[in-house]
Amino acid sequence: MKDELNSIQVETLEKIQNAYTSKELQDIKVAVLGKKGSLTSVLRGMGKLSKEERPVVGELANKVRETISAEIDQKSNVLEEQAMEEQLKKEAIDVTLPGRPVQFGGPHLLTSIIEEIEDLFIGMGFEIKEGPEVETDYYNFEALNLPKNHPARDMQDTFYITNELLLRTHTSPVQARTMNQYKGTQAVKMICPGKVYRRDTDDATHSHQFTQIEGLYVDKDVRMSDLKGILDKFAKKMFGQDRKIRLRPSFFPFTEPSVEMDISCKVCNGAGCSVCKKTGWIEILGAGMVHPRVLKMAGYDPEVYTGFAFGMGPDRIAMLKYGIDDIRQFYTNDKRFLRQYHHAKGGIL
Ligand code: DAH
Repeated sequence: MKDELNSIQVETLEKIQNAYTSKELQDIKVAVLGKKGSLTSVLRGMGKLSKEERPVVGELANKVRETISAEIDQKSNVLEEQAMEEQLKKEAIDVTLPGRPVQFGGPHLLTSIIEEIEDLFIGMGFEIKEGPEVETDYYNFEALNLPKNHPARDMQDTFYITNELLLRTHTSPVQARTMNQYKGTQAVKMICPGKVYRRDTDDATHSHQFTQIEGLYVDKDVRMSDLKGILDKFAKKMFGQDRKIRLRPSFFPFTEPSVEMDISCKVCNGAGCSVCKKTGWIEILGAGMVHPRVLKMAGYDPEVYTGFAFGMGPDRIAMLKYGIDDIRQFYTNDKRFLRQYHHAKGGIL
């Protein structure tokens, strides 16, 4: 029996040494020390031994049990530590690796241009106004001296929603809305940036949706020279101090007289090149003195109040300022294009 116990010890210790997982250890424990284990069944045979032999074999059996138990516990600790180490190794973070780059957004170029123009006009006492993009026929046309069937309506191809509702073709209706709001009782000095829509076929210089900024200054003694002074300031701020402006006679139904403003071409300094179509000048915006009929319809007495208005396109301004040759670039959201202008606000040509 002693031999049997000794060989159980030797064999079990060897198995323990060769175990690689806690599951294997557990199996060994059950196979030797469990209810039906090999050591347990040897102990069951103790009854057959003589009185003298029993304590001796009993003591040996206990020693074998303790040795095996201790060995299993120790091996179990070793395996646990190994498993922990392996996991740590697997989950280790290399703090010396460079981090993943964080992508920063930035304002769209048109947003930057509009904000720059807003800043300039706020500095000259103008307030910022907004109006609806779905507009009534009345404000988009009639209140601007463009009655139904007026031929000048053809200047702007319109997306109609119903007979009376449309997508605004310009930001000019906000002139009439603001004057209506003030009811002919006070001066108006506002600009309105926003989206406008035309039934145009998209190409390099046309987009069915683009942006405009409207300007309006109505007061008791507003003159054409005020318009010229403010536009000159605007042109120099946006395009450089060395730029000249000129006003050319033009026609808009809502202004009388009407003008178009050109700036001198920076590329050729007025000598004539392909950018300015050999004229030395580049057209920037439309403007004029508010038509007396427009003032009257909005509740202002044209005998008391006069005013000027202008309308410009930030898309065109951005294209000229940065040499962009396709208006669709603003609306197709190619990040490689947009990213170049994230720091455009306040930039110079
Ligand atoms: N609304 C005109 C357009 O979209 C631009 C314009 C011209 C606005 C003259 C004005 C103005 O206020 O006085 O073509």
